[in-house]
Amino acid sequence: MRILGIETSCDETGVAIYDEQKGLVANQLYSQIEMHADYGGVVPELASRDHIRKTIPLVQEALKEANLKPSDIDGITYTAGPGLVGALLVGATIARSLAYAWNVPALGVHHMEGHLLAPMLEENAPEFPFVALLISGGHTQLVKVDAVGEYELLGESIDDAAGEAFDKTGKLLGLDYPAGVAMSKLAESGTPNRFKFPRPMTDRPGLDFSFSGLKTFAANTIKANLNENGELDEQTRCDIAHAFQQAVVDTILIKCKRALEQTGYKRLVMAGGVSANKQLRADLAEMMKKLKGDVFYPRPQFCTDNGAMIAYTGFLRLKNGERTDLSVSVKPRWAMTELPSINP
Ligand code: KG4
Ligand code: ZN
Repeated sequence: MRILGIETSCDETGVAIYDEQKGLVANQLYSQIEMHADYGGVVPELASRDHIRKTIPLVQEALKEANLKPSDIDGITYTAGPGLVGALLVGATIARSLAYAWNVPALGVHHMEGHLLAPMLEENAPEFPFVALLISGGHTQLVKVDAVGEYELLGESIDDAAGEAFDKTGKLLGLDYPAGVAMSKLAESGTPNRFKFPRPMTDRPGLDFSFSGLKTFAANTIKANLNENGELDEQTRCDIAHAFQQAVVDTILIKCKRALEQTGYKRLVMAGGVSANKQLRADLAEMMKKLKGDVFYPRPQFCTDNGAMIAYTGFLRLKNGERTDLSVSVKPRWAMTELPSINP
């Protein structure tokens, strides 16, 4: 079975082919980041128009990369949600139409389930059950995972997602959108403990997160540390980025430890854009060593949005007999807990 996967939920056009025997045989990605940078965030209308331009050429590139013809493809999957409605509709319409033309089944898959299963593409793939930490630009969730489709939401952000907090705080420090990578670079040159940011919602029980207060704390710290020219000197910028990043990382670690204690599980799987963060990976690895558990994450290129995770997730579900009918429909809001389990 060979499955073509199309991802267009936000600002990345991803197309990949997953082969049941050989694994991933093509992976194409086009990022719109530069196009949106001038606007300080993703402009939904521009995102949709660019997906229209890029998706079909990337499908052709993916077939070329894998040395396959359309008749070699047994099914097409696409991100049906959550995400930007216009962007999702582009991927869904193209995927549905190609599937009709090629006379193969189509299936709309859940973007966050794609992130969650991305570590399965690695050689050192986790076994079930595990606790999943999903940290992206739109989501921060802790999920109890017993099998594909057996998900229980343990906690989530009640306001900004972790990636969103990186992006908003980065903007205050003069960085372009998305600011996660640049923030972590600044933080590398930061002085530890010069500023102490709060660890939100860690002083009470529960597994929910709140990151919007950190952005406000950063804004106040910036205001209080401007030099005589009304600017931040470079070292202070780095120190603020460091303090912010350490607060996010420590908060995530505290909640992950709680989730592992609550479930009794020893495996932690981390996915989504923020899981590429080096400090988070290092600190989490150290904590898991102490807890005598294991942590798993995808290679950095599969932490952020990509077609590979959609091709793989769609492969599992198409193989399970799931299908989407001929209508083109997307779900901009879609809870992962609504998904059916595989082989119940
Ligand atoms: O999963 P993703 O590509 O897209 C969504 O589905 O949201 O995640 C993008 C988010 C952005 O907010 C970006 O700033 C953040 O992930 N990010 C990072 C890092 N790399 C990406 N945040 C912190 N450190 C990083 N190294
Ligand atoms: Zn994502």
